[in-house]
Amino acid sequence: MVTRVHVQTQGCQMNEYDSSRMADLLRERDGAVLVDAPEEADILLLNTCSIREKAQEKVFHQLGRWKRIKAARPDVLIGVGGCVASQEGAAIHARAPYVDVVFGPQTLHRLPELLDRARRGDGPVVDVSFPLIEKFDALPEPRAEGPTAYVSVMEGCSRYCTFCVVPYTRGEEVSRPLADVMREVAALADQGVREVNFLGQNVNAYRGETGERGERGERKGRKADLARLVRDAAGIDGIDRIRFTTSHPLAFGNALIEAFRDVPELAGHLHLPVQSGSDRVLAAMQRRYTVMQYREKIRRLREARPDVALSSDFIVGFPGETDRDFEDTLKLVRELDYDLSFSFLYSPRPGTPAASLPDDTRPEVKRHRLAILQDQLRAQAAAHAAAMVGGVERVLVTGRSTRDPGQLQGRTENNRVVNFRCADDGLVGAFVDVRITEALPNSLRGVPVFAEPIGAEAVDSPGMPDMLRVPATT
Ligand code: SAH
Ligand code: F3S
Repeated sequence: MVTRVHVQTQGCQMNEYDSSRMADLLRERDGAVLVDAPEEADILLLNTCSIREKAQEKVFHQLGRWKRIKAARPDVLIGVGGCVASQEGAAIHARAPYVDVVFGPQTLHRLPELLDRARRGDGPVVDVSFPLIEKFDALPEPRAEGPTAYVSVMEGCSRYCTFCVVPYTRGEEVSRPLADVMREVAALADQGVREVNFLGQNVNAYRGETGERGERGERKGRKADLARLVRDAAGIDGIDRIRFTTSHPLAFGNALIEAFRDVPELAGHLHLPVQSGSDRVLAAMQRRYTVMQYREKIRRLREARPDVALSSDFIVGFPGETDRDFEDTLKLVRELDYDLSFSFLYSPRPGTPAASLPDDTRPEVKRHRLAILQDQLRAQAAAHAAAMVGGVERVLVTGRSTRDPGQLQGRTENNRVVNFRCADDGLVGAFVDVRITEALPNSLRGVPVFAEPIGAEAVDSPGMPDMLRVPATT
């Protein structure tokens, strides 16, 4: 009988990627199929996240629901993976004895054998070790699910920002060899993928073996950086849009700025988390850059690629953050004119250095600051969207709108959702030029340029000199 697997994912894109790989693995090895309803599954997998508050509670809450399923069907296997699993290890089983397997982000490739051991009654089976890059060699080639795909190029993080749990849950930085990444991108392109998003917790720290010899022919060889990865991927037939997430500002330098200048396939959007606009707070976070250095990098980037959209993550209420520090953050947000960004209340993470810092700011003050920042970010994002109205955007069509099947849906270079009325399913997976007609709070509406009445462009675009304006023909 076919094994049915249900996977639930919490957290970041890296976890989404890992969950897809788990599904690939079980499909390939056991002929398993994915099911949406946990009640129908033989294997229940929870891929957890511990980046912020309430991670543990969320996990045990979910497991409590699955416990009932297992009580009704004792053969069901329950596995917990991801960052909470990595941090808690055997403690998960101690609190939820009906869990059969606990595995970490670096051991998910061992899932089939861990499940086998659980089936044989060897449980509880716990493996949250960091066997370096073995994971990628052991995973089957990813299957494309539509025209865009994530490609994990490095794992872990060695930066140790004082607030962050990632280096402890995912381990130190490890990069995949360049050739392996390229093989994966080429295989995805063969399956119709047009856009790749290179993933890593600290993706611009990518240093992949190239197999090429050094300057003097020495065997140790050269390493490829993220800019090289971008250039090589742009050379692969079919790959017309490239993104990467997420960069740390310290390692964002000339090579990438030049890639933004020279490589049209590299989408004009950079997510470069600054976290705070105050040097004092940045130092306490051990981010290892100043606001001035960050600003300077953005200035050079915009010189190289004037139309680039910029987004960031912000942490509000870091221990010791004063009103003045917060004002500095707001000032930077306005000055750099950030587009769609993320902001979070600081959440002390067990085992991180910041968790033991004195913190005397009242929670309601922090929440108030967060609300102010989010209002500001929302207003700026809305202004960016409004400024797109009337212009033409290159949209990668990803499928039909779920709300209105009469419309196709896609994404712009700056990663906004666009819906436009069109009956032709043949456009899914293609780039289409769409004139933006309306900016809604969470998406844009538009009309494909090929469907516009002749002359509409001249009438619609306010920036066009009068002598070039021609009346619409309809
Ligand atoms: N380098 C990775 C970091 C992942 S965490 C990346 O930039 O994607 C994603 C974001 O979560 C961070 O940029 C930070 O803004 C936020 N974050 C991380 N730890 C946090 C904590 N302890 N409290 C609040 N926000 C946190
Ligand atoms: Fe976390 Fe800082 Fe690395 S935010 S993922 S330790 S760059």
